[in-house]
Amino acid sequence: MNASEKEVAWEAVQLVDDAKRQVAKEAAMMVTDGQILGMGTGSTTHYFIQKLGERIQEEEINIMGIPTSYQSFFLARDCNIPITTLDEHLPDLAVDGADEVDPQLNLIKGGGAAHTLEKIVDSAADHFLVIVDESKIVKKLGDFPVPVEVIPSALKPVTEEVKIMGGVPSLRMAQMKDGPVVTDNNNFILDVQFSTIPNPEEMEKELNNIPGVVENGLFIDVAHEVLVGTSDGVKHMKK
Ligand code: A5P
Repeated sequence: MNASEKEVAWEAVQLVDDAKRQVAKEAAMMVTDGQILGMGTGSTTHYFIQKLGERIQEEEINIMGIPTSYQSFFLARDCNIPITTLDEHLPDLAVDGADEVDPQLNLIKGGGAAHTLEKIVDSAADHFLVIVDESKIVKKLGDFPVPVEVIPSALKPVTEEVKIMGGVPSLRMAQMKDGPVVTDNNNFILDVQFSTIPNPEEMEKELNNIPGVVENGLFIDVAHEVLVGTSDGVKHMKK
């Protein structure tokens, strides 16, 4: 890559980052005093959690967060956001990112291997708000491989089953650690590429029905609203 190509690539990264900050800020401004919040995982929710921390400090709003991963737990703690659990409270609002969003607001999540707890928290919320940049909007789900969390001892049989379903599974490998990614729940992730996902609802159920699968990253009929960061500002998608 020559210098001007590098500059173009850098500008593109900056535009995506600006879009993430915009939607995260708008979502944080939608939070009202007294709410219990589900706090998603990833680079977009990172900005959301930071902005919440600022609001707590500047406006003294009273909120509590339910993190969906170690990442969001540590960040929330660093931002002085009081933490609670699903045992104690159900979220009024959950805010989370996504890897793909289709026109029916169905999602693929799990690019950060946190989709199991994300699905639990996001589904438990009265309102689930998704925040994404526009690169995540697709006509049909499935270019992004479906992350499947698998109990380690079931890796081989689950791999064979997803192949029978027509998927091409790939064990997610760690960076800065030899061997596979180990999730916050001590499991493995199979990223399963399907040539097409004609019925996402069926596939979500079928994958979860394989013994040894903990949860997959298809989120069907969970999201209520999506904020999309674009170069023309924030757009809303609603059901
Ligand atoms: C975490 O496992 C994922 O579900 C993320 O929420 C999703 O990958 C979106 O992440 P970014 O906001 O970093 O794109």
